[in-house]
Amino acid sequence: MTRFAFRNDAEWWRHAVVYQVFPASFRDTDGDGMGDLQGIQSRLDHLEWLGVDAIWLSPIHPSPMLDGGYDISDFLGVDSRFGSMEDFDGLLRACHARGIRLLLDFVPNHTSDQHPWFLESRSSRKHARRDWYVWRDPAANGGPPNNWLGRFGGSAWELDRPTGQYYYHAFLKEQPDLNWRNPEVLNAMSEVLRFWMRRGVDGFRVDATGVLIEDDLLRDDPPKPGADDAVPPPERQTRVFTDSRPEAFECLARLRSVIDEFPHRLMAGEADTSAGMLGRFYGEPSAPALQLPLNFGLLDAQWDGRSVTAAIDTYLDRVPAHGWPSWALGGHDKRRIAERLGPTQARAAAMLHLTLPGTCFFYAGDEIGIPQVPVPPERIRDPFEKLVPGYGLGRDPERTPMRWNDGPGAGFTTGEPWLPIGSCAPGLNVAAQREDGRSMLQLYRRLIALRKAEPALHAPSIEPLRGTPETVAFRRRHPGQPAALVLLNLSEVPQTVDLPGPGRVLLSTHLDREDDSLAGSTILRPAEGLVIREESPES
Ligand code: BGC
Repeated sequence: MTRFAFRNDAEWWRHAVVYQVFPASFRDTDGDGMGDLQGIQSRLDHLEWLGVDAIWLSPIHPSPMLDGGYDISDFLGVDSRFGSMEDFDGLLRACHARGIRLLLDFVPNHTSDQHPWFLESRSSRKHARRDWYVWRDPAANGGPPNNWLGRFGGSAWELDRPTGQYYYHAFLKEQPDLNWRNPEVLNAMSEVLRFWMRRGVDGFRVDATGVLIEDDLLRDDPPKPGADDAVPPPERQTRVFTDSRPEAFECLARLRSVIDEFPHRLMAGEADTSAGMLGRFYGEPSAPALQLPLNFGLLDAQWDGRSVTAAIDTYLDRVPAHGWPSWALGGHDKRRIAERLGPTQARAAAMLHLTLPGTCFFYAGDEIGIPQVPVPPERIRDPFEKLVPGYGLGRDPERTPMRWNDGPGAGFTTGEPWLPIGSCAPGLNVAAQREDGRSMLQLYRRLIALRKAEPALHAPSIEPLRGTPETVAFRRRHPGQPAALVLLNLSEVPQTVDLPGPGRVLLSTHLDREDDSLAGSTILRPAEGLVIREESPES
């Protein structure tokens, strides 16, 4: 049954809850141990029940899969491991029929070294596509042209012996960087966007937006101050001449103008949210870039009242007046929130996440509290762990399969899963948590529903309140509507909090205090969060 009519409002994404799916790990329907598009379609009931507005799929395109599908060999196709173009069209139709939008991952910085463009480019210095990638002559000593480091270890330059030049790769050597100074590259990648938008996709999460263009003079990057042996080798330089170059923002603005050729589309993307940088990822009102540069600030903040309060304030202060905030609480490159905070504080984090002003992104599996799953050395897939071992950089533990039930293969696969599912703790699956009225899954569903239903939570602003070292407190206020107060105890001991006025509990992270009337002060239990509708006359 359709949950709501497909809302055609141009800026649908402003209040949206976006759910990230790592396709290999969502659901497998053909028994090969890897998730697929039909598997995603078969679980849309779950997403509709949960109330998400949009799904973002990590790459689904043909790929040698050396970097989790972010090494693409055909931007216009569907990898046969995931299904066919018919499967994709079917999934898109099924999403739209339920009022759920679909976003794709767009990876503009690089291709796979198996992409026909690169095969042509490397075939000869004279090939018309030679300049589609970043080729340079060796340094005087025959070594790489400069000191730039690849993110996955070693030099960012790889020698192509037959043609005697090096090509640049910000990531794996099997992921050569496209040359975004070449207008033909911009045109070709714009056509990729148009191809998928014509098929009906609602937008994109753009990968690695800050590294599209490097310094033309190839100036060496400086050493990072204080970067000792504890710092992974690829991070021992400050990436001044490869990252967030002014020209990269021009490219983003050009891409945005392509997005805007189609109504109601979204361009979110990876970004640097640091001071002085975040604004550039939004672009100028006259030349906008990303509508939503993704903000992982909550995930990176130290988990205590003062640090989290400061992280919220600092971030919101950096969002320009014409921008709109975003909050991402997990992802395929980040340690799972339930692992980082533990299962109870992860509930407080969910409440915080879904009551802040802005667009929310969360990651499949976080709604049931999946932790990091240990991956034995012989099953490691992520090149980061293989190439820069010993620093805990591997991303496999957060990419393990979804747990649908407690049956064999956790309802994910009937075959051998591509990554271990891990020991399925009782209750750590969707079926069990749907039955349990106080589960993490039920909390997510209630929070998403509350966020939609409560007008105060639609307000574009936040009114910070003075918390304590252990608590976070803020108010959301929509003109003419009762205000909503959010109180969170980020500690493991009870906290007494004074209330500004009387109110009624709309939701507790513990799912057991709804409708309690409060006045004066209240005790927040360990890791408890409350959303309270205030009754003060002026609200
Ligand atoms: C993606 C990573 C990927 C890298 C290279 C990142 O931003 O999120 O998973 O390894 O880009 O494409």
